[in-house]
Amino acid sequence: MKISVIGAGYVGLTTAACLAQIGHDVFCAESDVGKLNKLQADILPIFEPHLGDVVRVARRRGKLTFGQTEEAIEKSQAIFICVGTPPLANGDADLSAIESLARMIAKSARGYRLVVEKSTVPVQTGSKLRRHLRLHNQHESDYDVVSNPEFLREGSAVEDFLHPDRIVVGVESLRAAELMREIYQPIVNNEFPCPMHSKCPTTSGVRFLCTDTNSAELIKHASNSFLAMKISFINMVANLCEVVGADVGRVSEGMGLDPRIGSSFLNAGLGFGGFCFPKDLQAFIRIAEKSGCDFSLLKEVEKINQSRIEYFVEKIRKELWVLRGKKLAVWGLAFKPNTDDMRYAPSIALVESLLKEGANISAYDPQATEKAKEVLPDVTYCGDPYEAARGAHAILIVTEWSEFRDLDWDRLLSVVEQPLVVDGRNMFRPEEFSSRGFRYLSIGRALTPDTPSAPGETRDGTLDSAIQNITA
Ligand SMILES: NC(=O)c1ccc[n+]([C@@H]2O[C@H](COP(=O)([O-])OP(=O)(O)OC[C@H]3O[C@@H](n4cnc5c(N)ncnc54)[C@H](O)[C@@H]3O)[C@@H](O)[C@H]2O)c1
Repeated sequence: MKISVIGAGYVGLTTAACLAQIGHDVFCAESDVGKLNKLQADILPIFEPHLGDVVRVARRRGKLTFGQTEEAIEKSQAIFICVGTPPLANGDADLSAIESLARMIAKSARGYRLVVEKSTVPVQTGSKLRRHLRLHNQHESDYDVVSNPEFLREGSAVEDFLHPDRIVVGVESLRAAELMREIYQPIVNNEFPCPMHSKCPTTSGVRFLCTDTNSAELIKHASNSFLAMKISFINMVANLCEVVGADVGRVSEGMGLDPRIGSSFLNAGLGFGGFCFPKDLQAFIRIAEKSGCDFSLLKEVEKINQSRIEYFVEKIRKELWVLRGKKLAVWGLAFKPNTDDMRYAPSIALVESLLKEGANISAYDPQATEKAKEVLPDVTYCGDPYEAARGAHAILIVTEWSEFRDLDWDRLLSVVEQPLVVDGRNMFRPEEFSSRGFRYLSIGRALTPDTPSAPGETRDGTLDSAIQNITA
């Protein structure tokens, strides 16, 4: 099918490249001239694993073209809207990019168009889009508007798009349902050359869920808000663990073994960030408010998340007493590993708070440095974790990049001013540090070898190792 994708950001570029990978002819439009120039010169404007290869192959096969939005609208039967929906000051989703695109479509399209909302939008946006397209229709075109929320995660976007657990489409006509099924058929049947695995399972296990537009739109906001709630929940459990002498890693492991709960999104830490959870949670709160529903549960989720930074800073203060003049090494800036995305990254609020107290920050991130420089100019950026740690009074682990697992701790010990690691992502087990010469603090784990769980009571690493051996 001839498909256009509007917006070549994290979602749009992945969507365009993957739709080309499964056999469609894709025209991807981008309004940011700098990004478009890069794409046309075969330079990827973002870091996303595997995406460069998929784009390159699609371009070589002539299945993927980049250009202007008007041309994209004219050339395709299906238009995937992948523009940004950032938060307004009051928490509402800013739909101005979608609204102006709707006017462009109504102005430029001739004949039938399947208009697919892939951007995350508030419930009832589809019906507004339908009305708007009718209102501005200049060439008596015919439209179906479909909601097709995207669930990919940055860092594994290509994998998630090509091997999703579900594809949700919200439609108001049989024609739209059939076209959406046709578009996704190769993924549902697992019949496409997979760029990542030499051998994929023969059945995909993908559920193609066809529903109404309002429900599809709600599925996206409800899903992200629910996941955010899981994170805030385990973060409160972590706070409790620190007070009562328990280990949040063990608590979440025990909880996650229950299939009704599941283990994902039960990692305690600095809280969630990124372009989805914070804004989608806010937007969902606003949707509920405007609909007269008291969803105060979600306000608590947000409040807990916002308090994580101060909780972490207080941990550092307790160790270093005064932060003014101290050098702090920040490892990881991106909102999560395997991306360069800095939007609403917890590192921003953390670094700003530490700078405000007079600390000096040296930071290292494997991919996000260039984007971080735009939002955090008063930081010394380093080329590796050792350089960042040189002369530091503490190493702060903010994003759990896997390369931090394989470092030379003797070398680190020789370069730091004070051997202290404060791990905001619980990357390590406390006992791993008993022989490294560093004091190690993490989140929600009071049972470290040097932290008694009650006065007079000590618990050493040997007991923990022995217990591990009898845990099947
Ligand atoms: N990033 C994620 O992990 C993720 C996951 C699922 C859903 N979403 C949702 O998908 C949407 C896009 O997110 P993103 O992270 O890709 O945003 P993004 O900011 O990376 O990309 C949006 C792109 O659209 C371009 N654009 C805006 N108006 C345009 C127009 N008229 N014509 C052509 N290009 C235009 C922008 O220049 C930008 O490059 C959002 O609604 C987001 O909530 C994001």
